[in-house]
Amino acid sequence: MSVMDNKPTRVAWLHGASARCETIPKGPFLPWRIILLGAPGVGKGTQADLLNARLLACHLSTGDVFRAAATRSDDEQTPAMKEALAYMRRGELVPDSTVWDMVQERGACLHCAGGFILDGFPRTRAQAVSLKQFLDKDGLGLTAVVSYELPACEIVARLGGRRTCETCKAVYHTTERPSKVEARCDRCDGKLFQREDDRPESIEVRLEAYERSTAPLIEFYRKAGLLVQVSATGTPEEIYDRTLPELETRRLSLFAERMWMSEENRRDA
Ligand code: AP5
Repeated sequence: MSVMDNKPTRVAWLHGASARCETIPKGPFLPWRIILLGAPGVGKGTQADLLNARLLACHLSTGDVFRAAATRSDDEQTPAMKEALAYMRRGELVPDSTVWDMVQERGACLHCAGGFILDGFPRTRAQAVSLKQFLDKDGLGLTAVVSYELPACEIVARLGGRRTCETCKAVYHTTERPSKVEARCDRCDGKLFQREDDRPESIEVRLEAYERSTAPLIEFYRKAGLLVQVSATGTPEEIYDRTLPELETRRLSLFAERMWMSEENRRDA
């Protein structure tokens, strides 16, 4: 099986518990379990895509779940989802209880043998605590939490030019990362669209929400010994080249720790 055949399809994540992924990647001995933190537009989705191509861990974006729900008909949307989409359009954070219900419903994705790259979740302290309790309960340790950092003026320029594929969710930028054919996706020929929350008034609200609710998680994960800080300046490939060695170093030390613990257990037995 080639690496591409093994690429996760994200169906269970995007469409919920009743949907099944066609391919469940055969995970490595120690699956990658990564969280990407960073302001809106810093490039988390772009990096998640590059990391996914290399590590195979599934790209789990809460924003993508909301956007997938927005494409369903009015009858298919639950009242909670309709309410969530209204928050999203304004650029505000969706209430914690709605987000957590949605993530819990997709709990199998967090157990996936292929691992995961969480993008856009957790975004508040309450979400981070819920996630920690969920993972601890089942002994699912995180590999690392990557925090991407970029000046606000560059963030606004990235968001203003973003275009997303309505079918496969691939992300482009009108000048920095244009598609080969205008307004069509290079991968699946899907139509590219501009997100509703990339309007200037929503961008301002999103940046404020990030500073108020999400930025404090940097300290939360630093204290947990999981934080890796990476500058998000330069091209996506340059940022990726800075991220990967940091992740590999962390994973190697987790691997050594695990081997040491199993050796200790063997000796005690
Ligand atoms: P979500 O979809 O998570 O959006 P976000 O966090 O605001 O992040 P973005 O997707 O806007 O940006 P990104 O960092 O992924 O950047 P990207 O790679 O696309 O959330 C949307 C909304 O859903 C929230 O506002 C909230 O309402 C709700 N929500 C979701 N999760 C929630 C939660 N847990 N709790 C509560 N509410 C929640 O890149 C941006 C652009 O820059 C692209 O055009 C890209 O091509 C370009 N680009 C990327 N890298 C570079 C580079 N190095 N150089 C130049 N251009 C680049």
